[in-house]
Amino acid sequence: MKYAFVLGRVYTLSVAELVAVLEKPDASLNLSGEPVKILEASEEVLVIETEKPLYVDRLQKKLGGVIKILEIVDIIKKRESDSINFALKHYFKPSVLKKQFFKEYKGKMQFGVSIYILDMQLLERPAPNPNAKTPQFFTSIFTEPKRVGMMIKNGLTESGLSVRLVLPEFNSLSLASVVVTKNLLLSKGAEICILASAQNIFTAKTLTVQDFEDYGRRDYQRPARDEKQGMIPPKVAQVMLNLANCPGGETILDPFCGIGTIVQEGLLLGFRMIGSDINKIAIKGSEQNLEWFRNRYKVAPGKYGVEISDATKVSGLIAKSGNKINAIVTEGTLGPIYGQYPKPEEIQANFKDLEKLYKKSFTEFSKFLPSKARIVMCVPAYRKNRDAYEMFPSLDFAQDLGYNLVDIISPGVAKKMKFLKLTERKTSIYDRKDQVVAREIAIFEKV
Ligand SMILES: C[S@@+](CC[C@H](N)C(=O)[O-])C[C@H]1O[C@@H](n2cnc3c(N)ncnc32)[C@H](O)[C@@H]1O
Repeated sequence: MKYAFVLGRVYTLSVAELVAVLEKPDASLNLSGEPVKILEASEEVLVIETEKPLYVDRLQKKLGGVIKILEIVDIIKKRESDSINFALKHYFKPSVLKKQFFKEYKGKMQFGVSIYILDMQLLERPAPNPNAKTPQFFTSIFTEPKRVGMMIKNGLTESGLSVRLVLPEFNSLSLASVVVTKNLLLSKGAEICILASAQNIFTAKTLTVQDFEDYGRRDYQRPARDEKQGMIPPKVAQVMLNLANCPGGETILDPFCGIGTIVQEGLLLGFRMIGSDINKIAIKGSEQNLEWFRNRYKVAPGKYGVEISDATKVSGLIAKSGNKINAIVTEGTLGPIYGQYPKPEEIQANFKDLEKLYKKSFTEFSKFLPSKARIVMCVPAYRKNRDAYEMFPSLDFAQDLGYNLVDIISPGVAKKMKFLKLTERKTSIYDRKDQVVAREIAIFEKV
């Protein structure tokens, strides 16, 4: 079986999460724990081959960094100079469409077309020569979804079917997951995807899309929020939990839990969760949020606990609870949140304070974490411009305390994907255009 995963905006984290999940044995996803066989990868999409079919609905819910899961239907060779539309000219016959792509549906069918690029250079091609005799890859690649869509629509209409075509917005090649969902494409027809490299085209159909509405609820409908300290987006919390190397059912601690985002996402992934925070208002917020969450998502009350505690003294709380902690997943504290880039002295002072806190906390965590347990944590990275950050000067403090810094993506996998944005120390940064303080996500493993 061949599948394609459409990656989120911060694609390096999406790849890190995806590989971690796919390589973990998990019967509920039909995964045996074999190394993942990657066929193609780009900033947009990762194509893999598996021995057995994956349980994609469950997999989609588990992955914070994957927007859509597609099943590859065919691979078509093309000449570099061929446009996508030209290469597919004889491919989309009504019989193939009905058999391979469309859901059985009695009423007017709806379908959408999305194009994903496997070879980003395709977007940078020079304008075509208007006098060329053979068809070229571009008139503009942005006209391709419409051309392919019309080709399919005309064929289906001629064969007597009534269909509606949904196309990507102007200057976009693919449909947002919200458009796929709102237009009921997956139940009333299909989203047909084309994955293009210079020499190949993969045709694919969308199996699942990320449930954007549910992520919105889990973020914005909670009774308590804390705009001042900031909250981690649920998707990022999910990615971090998936990097904790816990096969399932273990107990995970967030010792800087704020209003409980990581705790709630951990519960959804099937872990037992403990949250603690030094601030009693944050813990009150966590309690309210988790009560709301528990009712909505049917989580047993005994699956979690939140309490006030300084992270540097949290071992007392753990001993009292009698829980064995298998991993720590935490945003940590990022220090002050800024609307504008702060003065360099201020940044350095923040780093110094945080290093002190992290050192004390890691020493404390050693009291109860078993060997090989992971700490997945964010440290602040101040965003200077699009791709430049003032980063935490060194994470070596952890090594001195008996933890190794683990590459967020193994060197073997990273080597095959030159496009990944890894830091020199092989961590990854989650940032947003509107935020000065970005999150550098690092994995530490106890020796
Ligand atoms: C960025 S917030 C965490 C937000 C959380 N991830 C969420 O989404 O709700 C950082 C939290 O660290 C807590 N904190 C700061 N110093 C602490 C310490 N020494 N021990 C425990 N918690 C601490 C703050 O009270 C704050 O709630």
